[in-house]
Amino acid sequence: SMLKVFAVFELVLVVLHHASHALNRDEFPPDFVFGASTSAYQVEGAANEDGRKPSIWDTFSHAGNGNMYAGDGDVACDQYHKYKEDVQLMAEMGLEAYRFSISWSRVIPDGRGQVNPKGLQYYNNLINELISHGIEAHVTLNHWDIPQTLEDEYGGWVSRRIVKDFTAFADVCFREFGDRVKYWTTVNEANVHAIFGYDIGKLPPQRCSPSPINNCSRGNSSTEPYLAGHHMLLAHASTARLYRKKYQGMQHGLIGFNLLYLGVLPRTNSIEDAMATERVQDFYIGWFMNPFTFGDYPIVMKKIAGSKLPSFTQKESNLVRGSIDFIGINFYFSFYVKNSPGSLQKENRDFMEDLSAEIERIIPNDTSTAYEVPITTEIFIGSLYSIQNAYGNIPIYIHENGEQTRHNSSLDDWPRVNYLHEYIKSLVDAVRSGLNVKGYFVWSFLDAFELLSGYESSYGLYYVDMNDPSLRRQPKLSAEWYSNFLKRKHMDP
Ligand code: NOJ
Repeated sequence: SMLKVFAVFELVLVVLHHASHALNRDEFPPDFVFGASTSAYQVEGAANEDGRKPSIWDTFSHAGNGNMYAGDGDVACDQYHKYKEDVQLMAEMGLEAYRFSISWSRVIPDGRGQVNPKGLQYYNNLINELISHGIEAHVTLNHWDIPQTLEDEYGGWVSRRIVKDFTAFADVCFREFGDRVKYWTTVNEANVHAIFGYDIGKLPPQRCSPSPINNCSRGNSSTEPYLAGHHMLLAHASTARLYRKKYQGMQHGLIGFNLLYLGVLPRTNSIEDAMATERVQDFYIGWFMNPFTFGDYPIVMKKIAGSKLPSFTQKESNLVRGSIDFIGINFYFSFYVKNSPGSLQKENRDFMEDLSAEIERIIPNDTSTAYEVPITTEIFIGSLYSIQNAYGNIPIYIHENGEQTRHNSSLDDWPRVNYLHEYIKSLVDAVRSGLNVKGYFVWSFLDAFELLSGYESSYGLYYVDMNDPSLRRQPKLSAEWYSNFLKRKHMDP
């Protein structure tokens, strides 16, 4: 069709413009893995089927709060029923791996106790389907969707009781799927979950200290983000210990953790802004990576947060240190950081107040497309080197990278092609010169149910028409581009 001709034409232009050499998968080592990501609640649907019970994310999207513009995740992309079709598309695209998450409340609907055989069956089917198409499963155990029962019973992540329940859930997953799954991530974007779920209160479970200008009715921003983070660390460590003792010898898999990385630049060249930028690194990354690497929180964080920050016993410290085999990094865009003590007091955002920094997204000069984000690959690569410098040569997986656009039916998403091309290209030299990045996943495989914007914005390589009851998938230009990259079809212009 005409549209296709134009799409191809534009792709040629993009490639001509940006590629000084052919970019294809062979510029990366054979054991480097390329895939795409999703998460359970954002794509599965079938929220009330086959014994699944609600998670805190169901509760959040059903509350119809101001952050949610459209719909909820009851149906989403219906991957629960369409997994075969989706795996077929992945195989045709040439994906080497698929990163997805397991819905805890599908597998253990009440959070603990009774295992749901239909939940196990679904993930067995999905994993087997992937394997029969030569696609590796990279599995996240918790993508922000802990069972609502555990939230009601003891407050989910703010209680230490989550450690035992999480470990038991992981035990079931290792036992049932670990013969075929070798890459496990315990918690997705632990930092975002703790900050947005317990300080800002805009994501599940929407807790924060009530103030006249937020919507929170419950929570305590001064302690809960720290508690949630602490229990994520302990749950991870306990899970990693279990895996190493009970499964590693037979299953030979790896256990990682996942964080959002904020690319940051100081707003000005003042010493205050430079220090604020370092604090952001400590509060977003060091918060988790220091315990994993050194067995304790960053000194600056301990100093600022004082007794609000839980401390590790010697035994816990030993358990947490060295408990990750890799770190998953999600990277989207970059921010300017400005020192600003006191600016968040009125919102009762105590965690961010401890951080005392204004974090302002670097916006594009051209704001014609509301969602288009500037490409900051230098900051991206610099961030990866700073992880390596600060925390040793830990293997890194880019678990998420991608561009948000408005959700519409235009399949001609050349800005996304450009974005992906630039980020992947930026990794070529870095990997060649020894940066320990082992894989790259596009967020996301499909237009999914987004965190704050529901179905109004999208990241997918595939367009999903949410108004069409068949939820038909259609490849965007970016799907075609990624497929050509994976199939080594990009030619020198
Ligand atoms: C972060 C999250 O892991 C994922 O759930 C989300 O959809 C994307 N980034 C994009 O916002």
